[in-house]
Amino acid sequence: MAKVSFRYGLSLFFMSVIPGAWRRTAAGAGLLAADGTVAPTIFAEMSAAAARTGAINLGQGFPDEDGPVEVLEAARAAIAGGANQYPPGRGVPDLLAAISEHQRRFYGLDIDPDREVIVTAGATEALTAALLALIDGPDDEVVVFEPYYDSYAAAVALAGAKLVTVPLRAPGFQPDLDRFAASVSDRTRIILVNDPHNPTGAVFGAEVLTEVVRLAQRHDAVIITDEVYEHLAFHAPHMPIATLPGAAERTLTISSAGKTFSTTGWKIGWIHGPAALITAVLTVKQYLTYVNGSPFQPAIAAGLRLPDAYFADAAAALSRKHEILGAGLRAAGFTVLPPQGGYFTVADATDIGGADSAAFCRALPEAAGVVAIPLSAFVSEAHRDAYTGLVRFAACKRVEVLEEAAARLAAFGR
Ligand SMILES: Cc1ncc(COP(=O)(O)O)c(C=O)c1O
Repeated sequence: MAKVSFRYGLSLFFMSVIPGAWRRTAAGAGLLAADGTVAPTIFAEMSAAAARTGAINLGQGFPDEDGPVEVLEAARAAIAGGANQYPPGRGVPDLLAAISEHQRRFYGLDIDPDREVIVTAGATEALTAALLALIDGPDDEVVVFEPYYDSYAAAVALAGAKLVTVPLRAPGFQPDLDRFAASVSDRTRIILVNDPHNPTGAVFGAEVLTEVVRLAQRHDAVIITDEVYEHLAFHAPHMPIATLPGAAERTLTISSAGKTFSTTGWKIGWIHGPAALITAVLTVKQYLTYVNGSPFQPAIAAGLRLPDAYFADAAAALSRKHEILGAGLRAAGFTVLPPQGGYFTVADATDIGGADSAAFCRALPEAAGVVAIPLSAFVSEAHRDAYTGLVRFAACKRVEVLEEAAARLAAFGR
């Protein structure tokens, strides 16, 4: 016992004295304690709770079934065919061409595959590389809607800029446009938008997207848009910001194969935009991973060329899963805030004793046999109180798993 606490004490000592950018990254993510130690992310904590208790893990957003067989087969064939060494720095030409074709086919966007797009290690690397490339110092500000996907605050902090948040409030999770306008200034280097939105499930209205472009033009900011759920919008076709008048010349559009083809572990993402911005991002990206996923790149090219029905079916199947989950949550007494897109349903647990959703989620694996994440995990520390009561559940699981989770939740609520 004494030995364990000695070791623990030693690691505390080292953590508190090691200087470096890791500290501001951890602080940006809300993980740095006053004594210098780093807390595990809530996802690690909740996945451990799922493993310990046998609870159904609706915490982290990854599918529990394989994506299209054509895509999986293409990866196997690529490995067998020898695509096992470094691909070109910008990405395999066939995938660059397929991304360009995809953007034209679905959105009418015209992208030069040789100069205006690069393949990245998931959307996460695209985002971090873009922030590191474009942020110039501590006076630069990055405006985001809050709650936000958890890597945003960490990457903005690593890049050394200031995060400026604009709240999204239940039930609709659309920003107040006056508040948004007041948050953007000449210090704003980047407006970072995620649409469809994780964790809230919001899809932003045309007036919000138009305001993003107007404010970016007015203050000469770059727009970075994270569209990883582009094919999982339930009520209307996805509208990339880059398609709006005046947007393309200042927008970096990020997406990823992970959500669209249920290949989150392959980490194939991409970023496209004007050649000068893409060159800036590539300059940083080439010293992060350089390249990744050679055999997966041609497989994702095959995926992006699948017929329209594949994409429509993927959205319809996920929407149905949200309905199953939502029914279970309602039966348990949650107030459900139905998503318009993406992997997650947000529900209010206040009426069933979940007014403190962080404590509620810590108890839920034991109490109900289900793991979920409090929305406060996607909010800066100062703003957590505004989101208490709200809980995020992943719907990207097999129907039978969701039905079992729904039954457990309903039994728990009774
Ligand atoms: C909004 C958002 N952006 C980016 C990512 C990460 O994408 P990737 O796995 O391609 O890095 C996720 C994954 O959950 C996400 O929800």
